Amino acid sequence: MRHIKIFDTTLRDGEQSPGVALSVPQKLEIAHALARMNVDVIEAGFPITSQGDFDCVHRIAKEVRGPVITGLARTSKGDIERAAQALDIADKWRIHTFTSASKVHLEFMLKKTPEQVLEITDNMVRYARTFCDDVEFSAQDVMRADFEFVIQVFNAAINAGATTINIPDTTGYGTPLEYGALIKRIQLEVVRGRDVAISTHCHDDLGMAVANSLAAVENGATQIECTINGIGERAGNTSLEEVVMALATRGDYYQAQTQLNTKEIYRLSRMVSRHSGMVVQPNKAIVGDNAFAHEAGIHQDGVLKNKSTYEIMSAEMVGREAAVLVMGKHSGRAAFKKALEDLGYDLSGSVPDHGLTEESVNALFVRFKELADRKGAIGAEELRALVETRDSSVPETFKLESIQVLSGTHVIPTATVTLETPEGPQQHASSGDGPVDAAFKAINALTKVHPTLESYRIEAVTEGGEALGEVSLRARVNDVVYSGNGLATDIVEASARAWLEVVNSAIAQVGVKKEAVTAI
Ligand code: KIV
Ligand code: ZN
Repeated sequence: MRHIKIFDTTLRDGEQSPGVALSVPQKLEIAHALARMNVDVIEAGFPITSQGDFDCVHRIAKEVRGPVITGLARTSKGDIERAAQALDIADKWRIHTFTSASKVHLEFMLKKTPEQVLEITDNMVRYARTFCDDVEFSAQDVMRADFEFVIQVFNAAINAGATTINIPDTTGYGTPLEYGALIKRIQLEVVRGRDVAISTHCHDDLGMAVANSLAAVENGATQIECTINGIGERAGNTSLEEVVMALATRGDYYQAQTQLNTKEIYRLSRMVSRHSGMVVQPNKAIVGDNAFAHEAGIHQDGVLKNKSTYEIMSAEMVGREAAVLVMGKHSGRAAFKKALEDLGYDLSGSVPDHGLTEESVNALFVRFKELADRKGAIGAEELRALVETRDSSVPETFKLESIQVLSGTHVIPTATVTLETPEGPQQHASSGDGPVDAAFKAINALTKVHPTLESYRIEAVTEGGEALGEVSLRARVNDVVYSGNGLATDIVEASARAWLEVVNSAIAQVGVKKEAVTAI
């Protein structure tokens, strides 16, 4: 079995999804979860693009242990230096430098001749090697490029010291047979037995990113670049869960495997969906709501008799089904902790800022009791939603104490909100277009932060009228978009909790406390 490296670019290419902006705490939480899943490489960002991106890559490089941490850099000295400064604190790090291969990119974007691109590639890969022994080189848009030039540019990169060559189908133009054949050609004519890894980076414009990546593996690639839930530019990237599970389920065919702990997949998918605000479609392979659901009577009958009649892999393999029994208001702390462990959460405290620490378990237990008191039984999915919607790393400058709403056909919707603030409990009543709007206005008045709502989504965590409501929203404060999530039996309360997460994230981001909140 060949080892296929998984290079996760959720935090770089994934964040390039239209409308997605992840905060530093969210990126750190995702990076720690990726390390726990045992990916080989994490692309943490593009350090030259902003001070914020630089700082975030630097923090991930400093804190996250296990995977190689990399950052993107154009083939320019400034980009490479900035990437090296952000990364060199990591245990293991890589510079990922890139140019373009297609005529249209060279003519309109780079405004360079092929000869100039070859010379810059040679100079800049050599320059990157002066900082670090692990250098990856990419040339965008290979599938629309002249393949003779593609061969030349990757040859130049290897001669200059690149240790991984990444072959991006930037525009998702290639078909599996074509892309696979190009990888084979690169293997035979460029790598020629040298100790250089071939990597794939496929976009999904024609829905072929996963198929193309697997075709590359069949033809000699040993690294797949991908993102959780397949998020990324335009139609997105190769979806990590799909390629990983294809290799896990069809290892017999590919004769290749990854080192991932696949049981972490579902949790990461939920985390990325929550933080990015990008909903996973119900019929999405592996992580969609319906991926392991059986509707037709004949299918249900088969699965009840033997799951393998209609299932080629088990839900447990991707961490979807836990042996958690329904918990209720009489369940104690020990049972609660055991249920969290059964769901796959790490309670060891080994990831101090991002795992479930003693303190966060205590806070979750209090919320669990509140919910169980109001709702009765709490199932596995609801428990998971409770953990996933916790505000893991954003300091709670303002905390919801209570909310009361008045609404109906012939009344002006009004919300009375009490918050725990740095000055003690404070209350405010506001009216609005509806009870949710009124609650947001009352919170704005108390916190003096005025986010602009960009998107709002409400979902029942489970089926049935007694389900908990989960609100996911995105709102803008000072040109930065934050996401917030709230879970409650009452949908106005869930909305208020999500709104407060946005407010607290905005306060944490600009590093201010109460006195400066008015500045936001
Ligand atoms: O799609 C692409 O070509 C990229 C490169 C920067 C690797 O994201
Ligand atoms: Zn890309």
